Amino acid sequence: MSKIILTGDRPTGKLHLGHYVGSLKRRVELQNSGEFDKIFIMIADAQALTDNFDNPDKIRDNIIEVALDYLSVGLDPAKTNMLIQSVVTELTELTFYYANLVTVSRLERNPTVKTEIKLRNFETSIPVGFFTYPISQASDITAFKATTVPVGEDQLPMIEQTREIVRKFNTTYNCDVLVEPDALIPKNSVCSRLPGTDGTAKMSKSLGNCIYLSDDEKTVKEKVMSMFTDPTHIQVSDPGHVEGNAVFTYLDAFATDEDFAEFCPDYKNLDEMKEHYTKGGLGDVKCKKLLFNVINKELAPIRARRAEFEKDIPAVYEILKKGTEAAREAAAQTLSEVKGAMRINYFDDEALIQGQQERYNG
Ligand code: TRP
Repeated sequence: MSKIILTGDRPTGKLHLGHYVGSLKRRVELQNSGEFDKIFIMIADAQALTDNFDNPDKIRDNIIEVALDYLSVGLDPAKTNMLIQSVVTELTELTFYYANLVTVSRLERNPTVKTEIKLRNFETSIPVGFFTYPISQASDITAFKATTVPVGEDQLPMIEQTREIVRKFNTTYNCDVLVEPDALIPKNSVCSRLPGTDGTAKMSKSLGNCIYLSDDEKTVKEKVMSMFTDPTHIQVSDPGHVEGNAVFTYLDAFATDEDFAEFCPDYKNLDEMKEHYTKGGLGDVKCKKLLFNVINKELAPIRARRAEFEKDIPAVYEILKKGTEAAREAAAQTLSEVKGAMRINYFDDEALIQGQQERYNG
């Protein structure tokens, strides 16, 4: 069986370090591993509209931001199809048919949807489109017969729901048209949910606690130097805490032993640095300087590639157009198989028309 990757992002803002360690970096590794027959990365504008339907310009403007972020981290259009979800109208059709296979109570139990409903204060008036987006996400995944879906941990309930839809479809229509996907989550648990620079649970645009992939060096430095650390670590000599200390969480996600040799040779590795910090006698500024250098080393080539792509924006739209066309072809093929299995392919089915003729002419 072919190995196929599908994953995506909602274009509601520029991508940040949380996206990078949680998913983008891995995608590039997977892309370059040569292990996959096809790779589709989706800019999920239709999904983003489920809770931004009244602000379409926000989505429209962020499509190019996300595309630039993709290209700048090293996603390569020669190996990866980057596509815009809403243009692949086959996905909407699939969603309509899958909706028959999902109950309202099952959607209500989806933990991701539950959390998001709370977050958006939708409790009493949930838009149907938002409520049913897990079904649409199942279409995104199955339309490409994806075997592998690299995502953050928060998306696991979506993949589980997709697998249920696949099983239900294949048993109901007695076929093996749809493929059950596996989620691929970050190896390092820190990477699954990078906290914000303010130490809160998640890097999120609305909280203003993000370091963006497109931030310049000066901005990154300012953000790192003002990061939340340990409020009980007042004097350098005070013992400090590394748990819940965002600077150390980021170092966990990014710093390698080589980084220590290059930027902070007083310590061999992060464990040594943590030990000193915990004991007391190590100031926040030194840790933050290291962190800035580590992050900046990671972001510098990304920034440089972005600057190149920014020079020719029409070419970036062209990349999306090509990727979307290839995606449409794949989705149309699956839709045709789905309709065949559901026995709603009337005009493609010669035997149907003949059979009906015989019924009437006995
Ligand atoms: N729900 C995902 C997110 O919020 C984005 C997404 C849309 C997605 N369709 C997808 C992810 C299909 C994986 C597979 O990040």
